[in-house]
Amino acid sequence: MTAQALIPDPARDTALAYPRIRYMGSKYKLLPHLAGVFAEVGGSTALDAFSGSGVVSYLLKRQGFSVTSNDMLEFPGVLAIATVVNQVDRLTMDEVARITGPPADERSFVAGTFRNVYFDEADRQFLDNAWSHIDALTGNKRAIAISALVLSAARKQPRGVFTITGDLSRYNDGRRDLQLSMRDHFVEHVAKYNSATFVGPAARVTRQEASEISHGPYDLVYLDPPYAPPTDDNCYIKRFHFLEGLSRYWQGDELMLHTNSKKLPKPVTGFSSKRTVVAAFRETFRRFQDSPAIILSYGSNALPDMATILALLREVKRDVEVREIPHRYHYGTHKTAARRAVNEYIFIAR
Ligand SMILES: C[S@@+](CC[C@H](N)C(=O)[O-])C[C@H]1O[C@@H](n2cnc3c(N)ncnc32)[C@H](O)[C@@H]1O
Repeated sequence: MTAQALIPDPARDTALAYPRIRYMGSKYKLLPHLAGVFAEVGGSTALDAFSGSGVVSYLLKRQGFSVTSNDMLEFPGVLAIATVVNQVDRLTMDEVARITGPPADERSFVAGTFRNVYFDEADRQFLDNAWSHIDALTGNKRAIAISALVLSAARKQPRGVFTITGDLSRYNDGRRDLQLSMRDHFVEHVAKYNSATFVGPAARVTRQEASEISHGPYDLVYLDPPYAPPTDDNCYIKRFHFLEGLSRYWQGDELMLHTNSKKLPKPVTGFSSKRTVVAAFRETFRRFQDSPAIILSYGSNALPDMATILALLREVKRDVEVREIPHRYHYGTHKTAARRAVNEYIFIAR
C-alpha cells in the first residue's frame, strides 16, 4: 500500500467501498467534484433530498456530515439505511447461510408473477426463498439483506432496467454478472454491504415527495432531482419498478398485471413534466431558503435551462455560482439515450 492510499480521501473511499448499482443519473463519476464542493461549503448537517443509489449520502457521511437521506421511492431508502444509517451491523455467515438455505415457507410470488418476464425459474424462486427469511429480520440487518437482494436483481437484469422483458438472450454477451446465479450474487453483495459499513455521524432516512420534505434548516442541502430531457421521460418507477417492489416484497402494491413488465403505477410529481418543472424547482428552492447552502446538480441537455435555474436560485439566494463539468452518461433505454454527451452543472447557492 502506498502512503497516499493511507490518507483519507472521501471521494476515492466512497467509490471503492460503495456497492455500485446502475442507477439513472447516479453521481458516482462526479464524486470528486461533489466532495470538493461539499468540503468548501462545510457544516455538520446535510440533506440529500433525491438520494437514488445513495452514493452521495454515503459520501456526505464520509465527509463527516450528519445526513438525512430522502427519496420518494422506498428502495433508495433501504440502500441508505444499509450504508449510511447503519453504523456497526453486519450480516453474519450463519445469517447468510440461513437466507440462502432451504426456505422458511412455500411462497412463490416472484416465481409465478414474473414467469417469462424476468430471470429464470431458479433465480426467481431464490428471491422468494430469501424473502421467506428476510421477513424475520429487522432494522439494519434487514436493510443489508434487502439491499443485497436488490443489487443482485439489478446486476442480473440486462442494462439494469426493468423496461425490457421476456427472452433477453440477445443481451447475453457472456458478462459475469449475467452468468452468476442470483444466489451467488447475493452472497457477494452481502459481503460488499458488510464491508461498506463504518461508524460516522448519526444519519436518518425519510421517504417524502420533494414538496413534503421538512425544510430543516440543514447546513447543506443537496438537490439532484430527475432531469427532464427534451424527449423521453424521467420516470424512475418505469425503469426500477421491480427493485422497488422487491424491496418490500410488493406488500401493499397493486401491480399493473396487464402490462408486459407487470410494473407499478407511475407517480406523477412536479418534476415529471416540462409543464410543471419550473414551478417545482421554485417551490423546492423556497422550501430550503433558510439553509445556508443549496447545491444542485443538473444536466445541460435538460429543461429548464441553466439561465432559468440561475434566476430561480437568485430568487432565494444572493450568491449563486455554477460550475460546468464535462460528463457523459452511459445510460438509457434507447440507443440515442445510451451515449449522449452532456455536461453536468453544479449550482452552488449561498
Ligand atoms: C437523479 S436521481 C438521484 C441520483 C443520486 N444522486 C445518485 O447519485 O444515485 C433522482 C432521484 O429522485 C427521486 N425522485 C424523483 N422525483 C422525486 C420527487 N418529486 N420527490 C422526491 N424524490 C424524487 C427518484 O426516485 C430518483 O431516485
